Amino acid sequence: MIVLGIESSCDETGLALYCTSRGLLSHALHSQVDLHTDYGGVVPELASRDHVRRITPLLVEVLARARIKRTDIDAIAYTEGPGLAGALLVGTAFAHGLGMALDVPVIGIHHLEGHLLSPLLADPAPEFPFVALLVSGGHTQLMHVAGVGGYTLLGETVDDAAGEAFDKTAKLLGLGYPGGPALSRLAATGTPGRFRLPRPKIASGDLDFSFSGLKTAVLTASRQAPLDDASRADLAAEFQAAVVEVLVTKALAAAAQTGATRLVVAGGVGANVQLRAGLTTGAAAKGIRVYYPDLAFCTDNGAMIAFAGAMRLGLAMPAGAFGVRPRWDLGSVLPAA
Ligand code: KG4
Ligand code: ZN
Repeated sequence: MIVLGIESSCDETGLALYCTSRGLLSHALHSQVDLHTDYGGVVPELASRDHVRRITPLLVEVLARARIKRTDIDAIAYTEGPGLAGALLVGTAFAHGLGMALDVPVIGIHHLEGHLLSPLLADPAPEFPFVALLVSGGHTQLMHVAGVGGYTLLGETVDDAAGEAFDKTAKLLGLGYPGGPALSRLAATGTPGRFRLPRPKIASGDLDFSFSGLKTAVLTASRQAPLDDASRADLAAEFQAAVVEVLVTKALAAAAQTGATRLVVAGGVGANVQLRAGLTTGAAAKGIRVYYPDLAFCTDNGAMIAFAGAMRLGLAMPAGAFGVRPRWDLGSVLPAA
C-alpha cells in the first residue's frame, strides 16, 4: 500500500510517498526560508500562497522520483493541525481534492504525531514503548509512547518552546531567521561559561520546562556592554549549553520515571548537534539508547506524515470530512484501530 504524505502546517511544503512493504519511496521539500527572511519570521498569508504554488510541482516530483503514477497512490495523509490555519487549508484542500479524484481514503494527521513517529523511519527503528522528547518551534514536550496513538504527556514547556527560544535569542543576537541553525553555528565558535545563564526549572522535580526567562537573561547580558563578535559567540554558546543541559536532564529524568530504556528525539531542535551529543553521552551512562530521525526528517517534512498515515490507515476520515485544527492537543488523538 502506497501512502502520499502532505505537510503544509508552517513554512515548509513537504510531500512524500511511503510504501508499507518497501518503506520510503521518495520525498521532496520546499522551504520558504528565503520568502520570510526579510520579515524575521513566518508571514502566514505569504506562507499559504507559497504552499499553493509549490504543492503540485512537488507531487509531480515525488511521483517521478518513486517511478510511480498518480493512480498507484492508495491513500493520502495530510497535516490536519496544529499550525497556521491558512497554510493547513492548502494541504487539506489538495489532499481531499486528490483523494476524491483518485477515489482513495484521506487521513488527517496530527503534526506532532508525525514528528513523534519520525524516528521509526530510521534504521534501526526504536521498538515501543519509548519516551519521546519533542522539541520543535512550537512545542517542547516529553511523551511516553506505548504504541501508535498511545501517547501520555509527561511534561511540557510552561511558556516558550525550545525552538522558539532559539529563534528569539538569535534575533536578539542579530542573527537571521530561522534562528536555531544560525545560533548553533555561532555557538560553535564561542565558549560557554564566560557568561553565566540560568538553567530554568532544572531542579523543579517535575518534567516541565520554561525557556522565556533564558531569552530575557540573554537580553540583560547583551545590554551590559556592547557585544563584540567574540562575546556574541560566547553568549550564544552559553545559551545553547543552558537549553541543552535542561533538555538532557529532564529527558533522562522522564526515562528514569517511566522505566523506559529507549529515548526518541523528534522535532526541529533535534537537529542540534550539541543536544545530540549531550543526550547520547548522558543516556549511555544510564543504559538508555537514544534514537534520532535522520537530519532531513527532524524538521518539517512530508515523510513523517506519510508514515504516520500508513500507521493509521484503519482510522480513515469519513468521506466528505474536511477541516483543519490550528490548535490541537496530541493527547486527544485516538489510538490507531
Ligand atoms: O519541527 P520544526 O521544523 O517546525 C515546527 O514544527 O516548529 O522545528 C523548527 C524549529 C525552529 O525553531 C528552528 O529554529 C529549530 O527548530 N531548529 C534548531 C536547529 N534546527 C532547527 N534549533 C537549534 N539547533 C538547530 N540546529
Ligand atoms: Zn514541526
